[in-house]
Amino acid sequence: MQKEEIIARYKKVVSPVLGHYNDLVIKGAKGSYLFGIDGKNYLDFSCGIAVTSLGHCHPKIVSAVKKQLSNLEHICIGVAYYEKYIELAEKLSAITSDGLDMCFFCQDGSGAIEAAIKLAKYATKKQGIISFTGSFHGRTFAAMSVTNSKEKYKKGYEPLMANVFEAQYPYCYRCVDDAGQKCDPDNCSKHCIKAVEDIIAKEGKDKIAAVIIEPVLGEGGYAPPPAFYLKRLKSVCEQNGILLIFDEVQTGFGRTGKMFAHEHFGVVPDIMCMAKGIANGLPLGGIIAKREVMEKWSVSAHGGTFGGNPVSCAAALASIEIMQKKGFLNKVERMGTYIMRKLDSMGSKYKCIGDVRGLGLMIGVEFIKENGDPDPETTSKVVKECLNNGLLLISCGSHDQVIRFIPPLNVKKSDVDHALKIFEDAVCKM
Ligand SMILES: Cc1ncc(COP(=O)(O)O)c(C=O)c1O
Repeated sequence: MQKEEIIARYKKVVSPVLGHYNDLVIKGAKGSYLFGIDGKNYLDFSCGIAVTSLGHCHPKIVSAVKKQLSNLEHICIGVAYYEKYIELAEKLSAITSDGLDMCFFCQDGSGAIEAAIKLAKYATKKQGIISFTGSFHGRTFAAMSVTNSKEKYKKGYEPLMANVFEAQYPYCYRCVDDAGQKCDPDNCSKHCIKAVEDIIAKEGKDKIAAVIIEPVLGEGGYAPPPAFYLKRLKSVCEQNGILLIFDEVQTGFGRTGKMFAHEHFGVVPDIMCMAKGIANGLPLGGIIAKREVMEKWSVSAHGGTFGGNPVSCAAALASIEIMQKKGFLNKVERMGTYIMRKLDSMGSKYKCIGDVRGLGLMIGVEFIKENGDPDPETTSKVVKECLNNGLLLISCGSHDQVIRFIPPLNVKKSDVDHALKIFEDAVCKM
């Protein structure tokens, strides 16, 4: 069947609400490649939006899933205890920073955000939440209410969750101070901390339950914060009795070259949200929190039928085992540095590239017009040209002006070189 026919069938029976990055139709995938129904193979540098971090159909994960599926596919943890749920919680408590000890599982990233926000409100008996410009936390109600990356995600759903306040994310490349001057990283950090302090001063610390932040801005533009920002943010939270929530849905599980992105910054949150790469494609999300916070959540104050499904837990345990292999994460960091160096040198050759930034294998290339404004048109043309030549990339950024490089963490160097060649060939045509 032709691509056009399949898409026509889709359009007849599927809601138009779902957005599509392209019209690629696939019949399967393996490792770093997708197999198109057009007979072409595509290098997948999107990983299903940072999910299949170990490549498609990794044999160890497939085998763990098959084994679990033939033993127990579902029961609901509230109906009967089963070991995979507990084993995964134990594993997460062992591999996360000291102080993060107790888990709750759901099915996806938005569910993890809902859980974190509900826990923060419940544990502090306060209602206010501070989130950031450019943030993306998901589509469910609380998650959408703290999302700011694009207006269209919230339009039409008002009134949203109340008591949400927006502070500026330290997006250094575009950060300007109060006098309209471009910030250096330290200024950017201080300026953006002041934005948080101003909200707390205005609303009152007794109204704010939590600050929720992505340790590297994801959908909003793939922008890591300046080095000291998260430490400063943590101390503002501590001084004011406010919980700090890290949304590591996209940055977690090796994506930035450490198991969790916050390890780069030496800051431990009170609650951390996880999903995406946790189970390499099986639906799973969760939060891990400090014991003293989690213990305030009373029985049945939250729950769910599918959270921590045994098959997803088995996939997560197999994925973590692979990521914990000696040298695995170091290799991710090294590959990230290699790609960044190559992209940087393209950045100095081609005027349409304004900025290259990232951590590990979470790398963004921002496209600009001659006057420095975001350039979504060029971004989209480069993405299309790459796809025509067998490389799948997706964009992000509030104006769709950033191309993200999120290859599998175990991508081969030969595939990286091939991808970079396709990318440069596309950029130099612009
Ligand atoms: C940082 C972050 N948080 C939350 C979410 C929501 O996750 P999900 O789409 O699994 O609900 C996303 C999804 O892209 C994300 O990038």
